[in-house]
Amino acid sequence: MKDKDFVSKIVQRIPPSGIRKYFDLLTDDCISFGVGEPDFPTPDSFRIPALEELKQGRVAYTSNSGDPHLRQLLIRFMLERYELSYPSIDNILITVGASQALDLVFRAILDPGDEVIIHEPSYVAYAPDILLAGGVPVSIETSASNSFRVTPEAIKAAITPRTKAILLAYPNNPTGAILKEEHLQEIAKVISDTDLLVVSDEIYAELTFGGDRHHSIAEMPNMFDRTVVINGFSKAFSMTGWRVGYAAGPKNLISAMRKVHQLTMLCAPTPAQVCAIHALEESFRTDYADMKRMIDEYAVRRAYIIERFNSMGLPCFETDGAFYVFPSIESTGLKSEEFCDRLLAAEKVVMIPGTAFGAFGEGHIRCCYATSMEDIVEGMNRTQRFLGR
Ligand SMILES: Cc1ncc(COP(=O)(O)O)c(C=O)c1O
Repeated sequence: MKDKDFVSKIVQRIPPSGIRKYFDLLTDDCISFGVGEPDFPTPDSFRIPALEELKQGRVAYTSNSGDPHLRQLLIRFMLERYELSYPSIDNILITVGASQALDLVFRAILDPGDEVIIHEPSYVAYAPDILLAGGVPVSIETSASNSFRVTPEAIKAAITPRTKAILLAYPNNPTGAILKEEHLQEIAKVISDTDLLVVSDEIYAELTFGGDRHHSIAEMPNMFDRTVVINGFSKAFSMTGWRVGYAAGPKNLISAMRKVHQLTMLCAPTPAQVCAIHALEESFRTDYADMKRMIDEYAVRRAYIIERFNSMGLPCFETDGAFYVFPSIESTGLKSEEFCDRLLAAEKVVMIPGTAFGAFGEGHIRCCYATSMEDIVEGMNRTQRFLGR
């Protein structure tokens, strides 16, 4: 009997990650633009006080929903940063990263066969999370010609009687695209004529460049009561390994997510919640000094890398968010996987094929600039040398 005989059909259907292959090939002399993870350590200003509290023994379970003080601080955070006004801590659930919030929301809302619209290219976990919850992901294309923005027309055309929700993921991984207020307003108009839920993954909200602040779909008319916003501390607070995220939305839905959460996870890790509390308290005290320092650094790297790719003949579309660029490699005549394989073999530079994020990513590569400026300069020089051959 083969091992695979025990594996469910759903799990068999999920393709292997197109990113993992490149991590397995990484060697010490590689320059990696592969991992979507901040290169900054968790700032001392909140990491140290958190560790002190842990030394004092603050390590017991929290409530299933998460520490009430943390949820209260998040209410203030979302009001200050995104003008979202949640009436009570019952509107917030603390999770094991944004990853768990995504898993929970689909398990809480989907019956077998329910459809969820997702725009692609997009983060690798969405379609598998939907499948694992018994749902059906329905992909719609976004492309460089429209700066990878999902359009209201495309959403409208994808809605069927089985559609339960639409997932919006802006600022976007892998493209770096954002939706501005005017785009969100147009999308809100289409959705408000339906009974769909919006799941909005806003994990890169703070990484919005180009002047205007991040806008959430939940701010738009008629959207607040039908949107679950998902966010977390991994990116903006440089806290990936702590594993703390959150979902905010209508009480009944948050309570349904909590039901699944309490049976499968009990609560998010207490040490991570303690660190998140210090991260927010420190941010309020210093007007987000640590976060701003990191974001200012990303902005410098972003400007540099866009300029280098453009001047190499690999144009980057207008990209205003997250810490990714998604240049077109069409001028090379190579498929995106072939480009990445050959770049790695020839110059030991890791970039991720656009197809790792869905078939619509063909013709592009994802390049994460959350790495040192020194490595970015060297990586761009190597890429230019590769293209010259
Ligand atoms: C778009 C997107 N959503 C969610 C996540 C998961 O983040 P977390 O570390 O909070 O689980 C990631 C991680 O890369 C991501 O890129």
